[in-house]
Amino acid sequence: MRVCFETLIEQKRLGIPSGLQREIRNTALRLPEVDRVGLRWSKKNYPNGYTSYGSLSELHRNFTVFDRLRSALDPEARSFSRKLGLKVSGHELVLTSLWVNLMPEGCYHAFHHHPRSVISGTYYVDVPRGSSPLRVEDPRAPLFMASPARKIQEDLVPRVGEIILFESWLRHEVPPNRVKGTRVSVSFNYELEKN
Ligand code: NI
Repeated sequence: MRVCFETLIEQKRLGIPSGLQREIRNTALRLPEVDRVGLRWSKKNYPNGYTSYGSLSELHRNFTVFDRLRSALDPEARSFSRKLGLKVSGHELVLTSLWVNLMPEGCYHAFHHHPRSVISGTYYVDVPRGSSPLRVEDPRAPLFMASPARKIQEDLVPRVGEIILFESWLRHEVPPNRVKGTRVSVSFNYELEKN
């Protein structure tokens, strides 16, 4: 048996110091207090939750703590791109956006992808037991045509302190959070820039 064109997804512990983890968590939880625009944006676009995606989507530029997170993410994104076999010579993978997501009970984020980026991912800050997984869709799904039904979705269950990295064209969603606790995460995009 041969496997061709596999879809790689990286899930691993990021391994940053516990002090930094705490600081990221505290800053993320307090972000809505200073982000009126984001609260308004989330009301329209992020049912039952808060995301800084529509307002503060370059948090690594605004907060040292998130720039420290970026420093830890950079080598992981580069290592993932090597595993993917991406040809990036003359270019560099650069983190271009980074934002916070607070998902209390009832919050969800429907299927989407990140069209302008190369690698996308999430760092998990708080994952209450039983809260939403990250659901990904088989990228071949639109091509199956007359093929019989099969499983086309996979649920990845994140743990606190882990990252999940995937290629930005991979469709993904966060189904509704069914538990009381708030699921907290920081998501980001990498793009290619000329050296
Ligand atoms: Ni996404």
